[in-house]
Amino acid sequence: MKKTLHTEVWSMTRIPLVALLAALAVSACGSAADRDAVAADSTAADSIPAGQLPRFTGTGELLRPDGWEAWVLAGTSMGLGYTEPTTLPEPGAAPGIFLNVYIQPWAYERFMETGEFPQGTMFILSGSDAVDRVDPARRGFTMGGISLMEVHLKQEGLHESGWGFYGFGGDAASAAMIPGEVNCYSCHRDEAAHDQAFVQFYPKIRERLGLVTAADSSGGMH
Ligand code: HEC
Repeated sequence: MKKTLHTEVWSMTRIPLVALLAALAVSACGSAADRDAVAADSTAADSIPAGQLPRFTGTGELLRPDGWEAWVLAGTSMGLGYTEPTTLPEPGAAPGIFLNVYIQPWAYERFMETGEFPQGTMFILSGSDAVDRVDPARRGFTMGGISLMEVHLKQEGLHESGWGFYGFGGDAASAAMIPGEVNCYSCHRDEAAHDQAFVQFYPKIRERLGLVTAADSSGGMH
């Protein structure tokens, strides 16, 4: 798989199986208190499915959120990179991997009402290889299996940005917060259009914020 910045850190942050099992064993402890923390911010926390709230192990690792595949799809990109390309893709090759960004349905609704992401918002960034010629396709690209999963969690006290990053790779059950010195935080602080999130790439979210980007003029061209 062609590596991107996101995938490199993913492999760094995978944790050994022993640590993972230990974390799972204590996982039940953290969840009630954490629900309360989010509930303080929200008038309707009871109606939020538990899988859509951040839950932690006893050692403070974030548990892999359940069922995020069914959350709201904020945006999709393919081959997105942060540096000028030094080589061209081979003719017919995909420019990179697919990235899909999801957000919990309740956080999306709250954002649409208020224009702000509530405490407890979790964005998921998932990555899949772009594959071609899967029957019956003779051109174009479809998604391979999910090989990358990262979370951007908005929660006070994690980091001065108000958010924390977590890398789960393809299958890790829990993940420690990526340390604040890693460039996830600086790039998101400097380049993301609203509250550390790359909303400039999420069409309905940028529309709600009144952000117009060059991408908006390409709508409807088929
Ligand atoms: C050089 C800039 C840059 C760096 C460094 C970076 N990101 Fe991102 N990140 C982006 C961009 C651009 C997007 C939008 C992706 C898309 O639209 O597909 C994004 C989106 C995300 C999202 C989706 C939610 C959001 O905030 O928009 C997550 C989660 C995420 N990145 C995690 C990470 C993690 C974890 C790291 C560090 C290991 C990291 N990023 C480092 C540029 C960066």
